[in-house]
Amino acid sequence: MQDLAGKVAFITGGANGIGFGMVRAFLSEGMKVVVADWNPANIDKAKAALAGNNAVAFVRANVADRGDLKSAVDEALAAFGAIHVLCNNAGVNGGGTADDPDFDAWDKAMAVNLGGVVNASKLIVPIIKAQGEGGHVVCTSSMAGVVPLPGLAAYSTAKYAVRGFAESLRMQLAPLGIGVSCLFPGATRTGMLYAPEDKPEEAIDEAAASDFQKALWAAARDAIDPLDTGRAVAEAIKANRFYIFTNREFLDEVIARDREMEAAFPEQDPPSGRVKFETLRAELARNLLATGNRAVAADDAGDFGLDLNTTAVE
Ligand SMILES: NC(=O)c1ccc[n+]([C@@H]2O[C@H](COP(=O)([O-])OP(=O)(O)OC[C@H]3O[C@@H](n4cnc5c(N)ncnc54)[C@H](O)[C@@H]3O)[C@@H](O)[C@H]2O)c1
Repeated sequence: MQDLAGKVAFITGGANGIGFGMVRAFLSEGMKVVVADWNPANIDKAKAALAGNNAVAFVRANVADRGDLKSAVDEALAAFGAIHVLCNNAGVNGGGTADDPDFDAWDKAMAVNLGGVVNASKLIVPIIKAQGEGGHVVCTSSMAGVVPLPGLAAYSTAKYAVRGFAESLRMQLAPLGIGVSCLFPGATRTGMLYAPEDKPEEAIDEAAASDFQKALWAAARDAIDPLDTGRAVAEAIKANRFYIFTNREFLDEVIARDREMEAAFPEQDPPSGRVKFETLRAELARNLLATGNRAVAADDAGDFGLDLNTTAVE
């Protein structure tokens, strides 16, 4: 989607932080935006910040609740008549460690951080497909979906899963002219990562804090401005770029992790049956991505080595 003007975006968790950064960046591209969020206080604040702008509509929805989300999608269509860009951005901290016996906290965090992405995609991607005007899906993972956070198993598990979901969706939608991007924020100054001065009402006693907490506040003070992240997302949609990384400080760790994986592969050559199947699968994936996100007419699919009826490996 090279020209965003006039297109409609549906942004979950759009009333604060990174989602609100996307809202502002998209509005300045001339888009219409539906903000779907579950927090009334954040919605009121975002409404006040955008007062008088009739290119934005607000709907209250919990992404973990499919019925709620379906009503929000209906409201979005009633407001603007179409949805071209879906941003699966709503997320929450928490969920616990791998050995924490609190199943409830785990389930709740997974229902938002992973379930919300799945729910909104299953409801909205069919609408984008049926419109036949192209489109884009952006999923907000995290650097915790590439380099896991020590102990925060629920958060990292969901964010790795979001990345897997987005990578699979990318191949499936490419020949339909619908792009997919995955956003991997590191420290970004939002409601999730803030310095004491961002929330004076919490009256935080900085002197009593641990060294780790102090380092976290220092990172928050130097964190990315969510509006810059929103602009990076708009640019990635226009350029049809899958990976959106905003925090360079992770690069060495990512490279080291890739090297560790490479070094863990067995030395012996695989047998021909396995090679043949994986070559076919890799070729299908390459051919799907080679469509470069231009809608491929059924008659032209052969040029890409594709049969559009069988673009899934089951
Ligand atoms: N801030 C960071 O440093 C950082 C780093 C990595 C990833 N992320 C990811 O970025 C995304 C946005 O987070 P943020 O930092 O902007 O946080 P934020 O708290 O500032 O904003 C998140 C917004 O999502 C909404 N929300 C949360 N759960 C929801 C639900 N179930 N249904 C609907 N709305 C819901 C909140 O009300 C809020 O308005 C999240 O997916 C988060 O995991 C953030």
